[in-house]
Amino acid sequence: RNIAVLMGGYSSEYEISLNSGATVVASLDKEKYQVYAVHILTEGWFCVIDDERFTIDKGDFSFKDASAKKVTFDACYNTIHGTPGEDGKLQAYLELLGIPQTSCGFYESALTFNKRDSLSVLSSYGVPMAASVYVNKGDEIDMSFKNLLAIKVGYPCFVKPNRAGSSYGVSKVYKEGDLIAALDNAFKEDNQVLIESFLSGTEVSVGVYDFGNGAEVLPVCEIVPDGDFFSLEAKYSGKSQEIVPARLDERETADVQGLTKGIYELLGLKGICRIDFIFHEGKPHFVEVNTNPGLSKESIIPREFKVAGLSLTEVFGKAIETCIK
Ligand code: DAL
Ligand code: MG
Repeated sequence: RNIAVLMGGYSSEYEISLNSGATVVASLDKEKYQVYAVHILTEGWFCVIDDERFTIDKGDFSFKDASAKKVTFDACYNTIHGTPGEDGKLQAYLELLGIPQTSCGFYESALTFNKRDSLSVLSSYGVPMAASVYVNKGDEIDMSFKNLLAIKVGYPCFVKPNRAGSSYGVSKVYKEGDLIAALDNAFKEDNQVLIESFLSGTEVSVGVYDFGNGAEVLPVCEIVPDGDFFSLEAKYSGKSQEIVPARLDERETADVQGLTKGIYELLGLKGICRIDFIFHEGKPHFVEVNTNPGLSKESIIPREFKVAGLSLTEVFGKAIETCIK
């Protein structure tokens, strides 16, 4: 079978995605699959073979190899973080072409990549979460907005791009005087911004997947950030600690795993996802869903599979077989 491992993307996370893609390319069983690295970049779409780039025909997602033979794909392993691989765009395109891909469907991807909209859906089911306020680029940040923010969210707060990942453009803001700079920083990533209240407590992250036997959850990962929060630097500098299994008691572990499974089922997610929470006042508070979670060496999902005793070769193969069915 010909498998395209999709990596790159158009967002700030593209390099992180190239690392995730490299993990999948290295892990897949080469006896079972003919594996192609496909780079989806702002400058173009290419299948990369021995550092040579072959342009992908967007009409049918194929390319011509060095001997001018047309190569098509039986399935795509999607490791793109951010747009256009985590927000539903490629999902919709591939679905129209009839090429299966390992990630969620286009609607579920678009919904979960939008922090405000996923909070809004899950809050209606009573899932605990931080209070938040939403801002569009160009909205006036006047006294009445600042008063609303102080009352509803308070300080410290997190200012986040509404549709982005890996903490690009995220700031922790301690006082009103720092708000505008934080908004400017977030608006570099997206024209929509979410401001959330700071919840004290332990941050945890839980992998979840369905390979045809219903949703299964992975051991919980506890995040001990190096610094003020789990920022971009803290995530990839190697200095933060990710502890699997998390130092939670049995009830807390069952609570957060149960909530993870519930959210995966409720939102109709597919493939390997990772859901982030903060344990605040003894209860897991939802932060976000990652439908294409990081798979680099520093990343949480590979650690959780390792503790669960599952090899990446096995799980990535199952993800492909499940999406083809
Ligand atoms: N957005 C990053 C890659 C993650 O969630 O792991
Ligand atoms: Mg994320």
